[in-house]
Amino acid sequence: MRVVRTVEQLREALDYMRMGGHTPIGFVPTMGYLHEGHASLIRKAGEMSRTVVMSIFVNPLQFGPSEDFSSYPRDERRDLELAEREGADIVFIPAVEEMYPQPIRTRITVDSLTAQLCGASRPGHFDGVTTVVSKLFNMVQPDYAFFGLKDAQQVAVLRRMVSDLNMNVEIIACPIVREADGLALSSRNVYLGSEERTQALVLSRALREARKAIEAGAVQTVDQARGLLISVISSSPLAVIDYVEILSFPGLGALDGGSLLSGAEGEVIMALAVKFGRTRLIDNNVFIPKEVHALV
Ligand code: PAF
Repeated sequence: MRVVRTVEQLREALDYMRMGGHTPIGFVPTMGYLHEGHASLIRKAGEMSRTVVMSIFVNPLQFGPSEDFSSYPRDERRDLELAEREGADIVFIPAVEEMYPQPIRTRITVDSLTAQLCGASRPGHFDGVTTVVSKLFNMVQPDYAFFGLKDAQQVAVLRRMVSDLNMNVEIIACPIVREADGLALSSRNVYLGSEERTQALVLSRALREARKAIEAGAVQTVDQARGLLISVISSSPLAVIDYVEILSFPGLGALDGGSLLSGAEGEVIMALAVKFGRTRLIDNNVFIPKEVHALV
């Protein structure tokens, strides 16, 4: 595995792989502090590509002024061990000055899809994500790029960017990886105190209960599903809800007539963002209403 820190070294390493015929190139962009969710992305990239590139870069552009950029967890040595163990070939770890050598005057904005959910709670966040991912795509020029569905809005936004701008890369969305007790893996879980960690299980439980109620036909509208999610989450005294939304996926629009079961095209997302102490966690469940309807 090669570790490179400049764009020039990255391009040299990639030229070498391309000249040796080690294509397609799979790319896993991350902000480090890697966990089993990232490991699953590297493994998927390894199944679909002959060269796996991972980037580790905590991107200042996607953090708001009162967010956790400076305290975001970092552990390069552990990250490199995990990347090597899971089969990454090239790891790109640029400094902020390498990615942003001059004040950035060009930004990528995907509108409409970024107006709700995390886009509403974190103004400017998705411009930071789409801008850095475009830069990384230009540097790596991957055939495939791998993202976890825990950040489902990010997947929807990046797919739209790639399609609108004719970028020559396929976005591969990979399933959410959870702890055995249901907590969705996140680098930010490390912030949770032990009582917060226990109470945070309410998120996956709420999603499971809502799915069960929808499958049983007991819940048929967006309002009923939201009501159920909110009441389960509110049973945890430490939970402070940022949003609980049910929208079409990947369009992230309101469902026709507020009905979960009638005529919704494609998929539906139940998306949650909830704070436990100073830690904001997100979780979601994406399902196809017609398939759920068939179960009723
Ligand atoms: O999902 C993340 O870790 C980040 O948003 C990404 C895609 C690496 C961009 O900084």
